[in-house]
Amino acid sequence: MSSKFTWFGHAALGLETGGYKLLVDPFISGNPAAKTAADQLEADYILLSHGHGDHVGDTLEIARRTGATVISNFEIATWLEKKGVKSHGQHLGGGFKHPFGYLKLTLAIHGSALPDGSYGGNPAGFLLTTLDGHKIYMACDTGLFGDMQLIGDEGIDLAVLPIGDNYTMGPADALRAVKLLRPRHVIPVHYNTWELIAQDPQAWASQVQAQTNAQVHVLPPGGSFTLG
Ligand code: NI
Ligand code: MN
Repeated sequence: MSSKFTWFGHAALGLETGGYKLLVDPFISGNPAAKTAADQLEADYILLSHGHGDHVGDTLEIARRTGATVISNFEIATWLEKKGVKSHGQHLGGGFKHPFGYLKLTLAIHGSALPDGSYGGNPAGFLLTTLDGHKIYMACDTGLFGDMQLIGDEGIDLAVLPIGDNYTMGPADALRAVKLLRPRHVIPVHYNTWELIAQDPQAWASQVQAQTNAQVHVLPPGGSFTLG
């Protein structure tokens, strides 16, 4: 069994794992980096890390069209239910055995107000243990924090980390994050969407590979990586 990742640009991800289709933070419409149309995307589940517009994106439309269940924090899950979207609320540190694997919400240092100004609870990252036992950590929007060491202790196969700076970790802190997390594979995200978060991912990849044992996969928007 394997898990296939697709990067749609910014922080929007597709993940096919255990026979299920997941989307993470599906901001497609209005995403200058996206090469896909939101109405082309299929999903059984949507993981939503926090309430900001560049993450909520097309969540409502895709969930209504596909019938996907949206997994987020309790506050956002309640907001979604009021809008007629099927949701599953969890919270930081809590895990649940979903059909596609065991998903735990992790700490993230960031904000989470929803696009309409509603309270969006605390932002989260995701730690997924796939059905075949791989551990995938998606930090989502966050600054560097020391407890990444604890997440790393779980044995991370793939870490998806922001490197854009300004709103999240920049390249230097993302390199420190790799040292704490000790993943086998890394994919950088949340950069080059706008000038404000322009970064050179190849330069970052060279630094990471010189200073850690992690293998970095720089994907073009629409590009995929398969974790075997
Ligand atoms: Ni954000
Ligand atoms: Mn963001």
